[in-house]
Amino acid sequence: MQFPLMPVQASTISGEVDHLLYFLLAVAVFFIVVIFAAIFYFAIRYRRRSDAELPEPVHGSVPLEILWSVIPFGLTMVMFTWGASLYFRMNRPPDNAVQIYAVGKQWMWKLQHMEGQREINELHVPVGRPIKLTMTSEDVIHSFYVPAFRVKQDVLPGRYSTIWFQPTKPGKYHLFCAEYCGTKHSGMTGWIYVMEPQEYQAWLGGGAAAGSLADNGQKLFQDLACANCHKLDGTGRGPNLAGQFGRTIQLSSGGTVAFNEDYIRESVLQPAAKVVSGYQAIMPTFQGLVTEEGLVQLVEYIKSLTPASGSTPPGGSGVTPPPDKQAPNQRQTQPSVGTSTPGNR
Ligand code: CUA
Repeated sequence: MQFPLMPVQASTISGEVDHLLYFLLAVAVFFIVVIFAAIFYFAIRYRRRSDAELPEPVHGSVPLEILWSVIPFGLTMVMFTWGASLYFRMNRPPDNAVQIYAVGKQWMWKLQHMEGQREINELHVPVGRPIKLTMTSEDVIHSFYVPAFRVKQDVLPGRYSTIWFQPTKPGKYHLFCAEYCGTKHSGMTGWIYVMEPQEYQAWLGGGAAAGSLADNGQKLFQDLACANCHKLDGTGRGPNLAGQFGRTIQLSSGGTVAFNEDYIRESVLQPAAKVVSGYQAIMPTFQGLVTEEGLVQLVEYIKSLTPASGSTPPGGSGVTPPPDKQAPNQRQTQPSVGTSTPGNR
């Protein structure tokens, strides 16, 4: 009969998270023992022996003050540097991570792979590869939590948050929502299936995916008539979006903005918020006309208009050959699907 106190360790980071937790626990237990032992010892040793007894005045001790300042300071600095370094690593996905999008809503997880496969409350991933999730919410705050991977990240409406992990063991792991989000919060669970690479490959091939995210995004870009103004030869009434992803954009308000996923999302929903320098705020909002999944597809399409930079490490952030799809004839740049598909797909 098994009685596990901790979830299995199934990601590269889980052992390290546990070590830090054990260290914090050990420090806490040590001081609890010392403090309670001292309380009991002093209570007995210095108890009042007669009603007439008066205690001796205490005048303090400099060495003691220094001792109990320096030791806790040292200990908390160890906790801080250890915790911070782990936190930074957990928040910086490697460049070659497999990109997956997640949308939380009351009360389910919707996931989209770059290749176009969609899942609900299930996520299939390959073992031994870093997986990066870009997540947003359709309604309230949720939190993506996989105990076996020791990762948890809030999923917020109105912006993208990311999380990454590298599974180390094939298997089936619980996915939870870890932020109270309404009556069925406790039912907002799912499973992560970690598969052997060949198995995962077969799974990817098996689903009848209707085109990659970027392809669907391109279709949406046409259907919503974005392409009428955002012409890829720069002659449109809106800025040319090709080659812009990752750059810093000058705004008509005078400031600058990083051209990233959040900026694309915001610009579709609130076009007037950050207008590119030299353009008029004439774009209508697409609020209500495009779903969060659609936004993700648009983001991937616009990302695909910027060739992956040559500085990525070999085997790195997926420089895929351009999809030989029905590219709009204005297209001038070599599209490449952003973070997907390091060679072995
Ligand atoms: Cu979603 Cu709790």
